[in-house]
Amino acid sequence: MIKLNLMKVLGIETSCDDTSMGVVENGKLISMVRSSSEEFHIRYGGVVPEIAARKHLELFPFVLKEVLEKGKLKLRDIEGISVTFGPGLVGSLLVGIELAKSLSFLLKVPFIGVNHLEGHIYSIFFEHKIDFPFLTLLISGGHTEIIIVQDHLKYKIIGTTLDDACGEIIDKIGRKLGFPYPAGKELDKLALRGNPNKYNFTLPRFKDIKRKFSFSFSGMKTQALNIINSKNFVIEDLVSSLFGGISEVLLDRVRLVSKETGITNISVVGGVSASKFLRKRFEKEKGLNFYFPSPEFSTDNGGMIALVGEEYLKKGFFSPFDLDAMSHLKLGENSYLKCDKI
Ligand code: KG4
Ligand code: ZN
Repeated sequence: MIKLNLMKVLGIETSCDDTSMGVVENGKLISMVRSSSEEFHIRYGGVVPEIAARKHLELFPFVLKEVLEKGKLKLRDIEGISVTFGPGLVGSLLVGIELAKSLSFLLKVPFIGVNHLEGHIYSIFFEHKIDFPFLTLLISGGHTEIIIVQDHLKYKIIGTTLDDACGEIIDKIGRKLGFPYPAGKELDKLALRGNPNKYNFTLPRFKDIKRKFSFSFSGMKTQALNIINSKNFVIEDLVSSLFGGISEVLLDRVRLVSKETGITNISVVGGVSASKFLRKRFEKEKGLNFYFPSPEFSTDNGGMIALVGEEYLKKGFFSPFDLDAMSHLKLGENSYLKCDKI
């Protein structure tokens, strides 16, 4: 296997409403910029795909310029390009993919399409060194998964949500309470001030083998909506109890998987892992070692995409120019070629 002596890899992330780019060099982040179109979606209560795609188009030249300036780099210093090609909003993904292809063509450097979820898994490596195998709990606006990370680029999904993702119910309850999208950060502050034992949220458990590691959040969402509709509640206590319930469900599945696999090192990644409430609760847990990224690496960012890309490119993988956006891409589904030389 030819090991490419790559120095600087540019990562491009445009799967949802964040236009973000990062540059890594030998596993270290040297520059990162993130610009969000959140404010343009607020009045609609969620991300509007058409608006998100147009905003990526508008923002990417500025983000690219800034990420290079911050890293004191010239465009010609970039030796590899990594881009999210799924899962996500097709129109948004396409902006990043076309940019990656154009830069690859222009600079005559390889490019690789990576899975957004792989990016979140890799986000932990900026600040922590964890021995393989370890577990990853990925909690974001679109995903809730427990994954065994067996080695670099080798994953096994153990459990996933059967309905809503945990960030999704936080955002939906937030919207009902009148908070702008995404509501996670604001609700997290409220949760820290309330009584988490005020409301008893039903915690789903599945007895059958196939679903025992799965998650379900739709029952909790209905319970929270019913309480809000009753108009008789203290907001801090409701949100605190909801965050408490979500934490308990997540911890319950992590305990189960840890018991079954014997793995006690667990990284918690994705936007919801930025929650201070959740971190406090998880850190009280005995017998399990939790690793959290800094909040800037919890939410979507181009740095994590660059880091995964570097791992692939170093091993001689690259993507063909007909790489397409894959809105429902699963972890482990890839689209690359293996080369001896580039
Ligand atoms: O990973 P991410 O940026 O995008 C996806 O891939 O979905 O995650 C976004 C999610 C949203 O649901 C947002 O409300 C939630 O992460 N979030 C938080 C916090 N910051 C962002 N949830 C709880 N506490 C936070 N501090
Ligand atoms: Zn994400």
